Amino acid sequence: MTETTRGRIVLLEGIHPSAEARLETTGMEIVRMDGSLERSELQSVLREATMLGIRSRTQLDEALIRNAPNLQAIGCFCIGTNQVDLTCSATLGIPVFNAPFSNTRSVAELTLAEIVMLMRRIPQRSADMHAGKWRKSAAGSREVRGRTLGIIGYGHIGSQLSILAEAIGMKVVYHDHISKLPLGNAHPAKDLDELFATSDVVSLHVPATPATRNMIDAKCLARMKPNALLINNSRGDVVEIEALVEALQGGRLGGAAIDVFPEEPRSGNSAFETPLAGLENVLLTPHIGGNTLEAQASIADEVGDKLVRFACEGSTGTAVNLPTVDLPSRGEGQHRILHFHRNVPGVLGTMHSALANLGVNINAEYLQSQGELSYVILDVDPADADAIRTELEKIPETIRMRIIVD
Ligand code: NAI
Repeated sequence: MTETTRGRIVLLEGIHPSAEARLETTGMEIVRMDGSLERSELQSVLREATMLGIRSRTQLDEALIRNAPNLQAIGCFCIGTNQVDLTCSATLGIPVFNAPFSNTRSVAELTLAEIVMLMRRIPQRSADMHAGKWRKSAAGSREVRGRTLGIIGYGHIGSQLSILAEAIGMKVVYHDHISKLPLGNAHPAKDLDELFATSDVVSLHVPATPATRNMIDAKCLARMKPNALLINNSRGDVVEIEALVEALQGGRLGGAAIDVFPEEPRSGNSAFETPLAGLENVLLTPHIGGNTLEAQASIADEVGDKLVRFACEGSTGTAVNLPTVDLPSRGEGQHRILHFHRNVPGVLGTMHSALANLGVNINAEYLQSQGELSYVILDVDPADADAIRTELEKIPETIRMRIIVD
């Protein structure tokens, strides 16, 4: 399949307008829609789309992707990409982009605020005031200065939180399943036992994996310090909710802040129930850790830029499913041929022989392979582009080809 770069970018799910401003530079038509689409509507939109921007509600399965004949790239304007069939899109040479740390700061800030709120037992104080009760008391209310924060998962969010917590006088220990550079004065705990035994607050920042599923169970909660606080702003199935409820009701833990749940409603207006509702000193939020206007704008900019760079230069940069290449701009007046092919021995040899037989000049060549896929980029003189394309199309391992012209 050979394509040139012109077409239509469809942005679903009310993506922040800043993406549109960036994408205009591609010269493509931009269609914006506020909500997610029913499957049949999505099918018809996909038939015409050159690039598709989605957030987490749009599910792109194999059948939908295979029936999108013009689709060149998918932008997930969020962190996760599990709503897209990454294998199928890779097999078709369609890169999938996301914004892995555009909302890191928002989650870290919320977590820090929750630590302060829980330490001061604000959920109850605020509920009392709303109920017309003036209960002024210092009972159970603590400063955070000098307390120890135990961070499980010292990645983007965990390490950012580490810096913020130290800035307000907390000590930080962390646990990660791989070795991580400690920031500031933080230090790694010997093991999870040490972290539980020393932390006044435990905050979870691990991804959802088989190893982290129900990672915090009754046994872990029993190992935490009496009256310690638990914060989960990571993924809903990392904590066993029933065990947490018991630990809170039994007075074992002093409080909790929970932003993510094992079952979350798909739509914004759905009812929601959790056994944590109504418990004292518990903050419940509807998965809004990363939801700030700044994060939304930053995600729009980040993914928008990645789509622009792929459209205009062929860079796959930080694509999550394809060989990644950060390309320099084309030389003036050059055409750029982007060739995705199956990574089997001999393809490059066939390609070079074909080019040698044509007697054409290749001004720049880049190659990156990953698993079963290879991505070759050739900068060529415009006069040679058609002949090269004809030869490359004959290579049976070719998956997809695109030419970027001026
Ligand atoms: P990250 O990938 O940068 O960091 C995760 C860290 O956890 C890594 O350092 C990794 O080595 C570590 N880890 C993985 N498995 C582990 C295990 N079994 N034991 C110990 N450590 C383990 O991810 P990031 O960006 O910091 O996100 C962390 C979590 O926050 C993710 O679950 C993400 O989905 C969630 N998140 C939640 C948001 C919200 O709105 N509440 C918004 C953004 C992210």
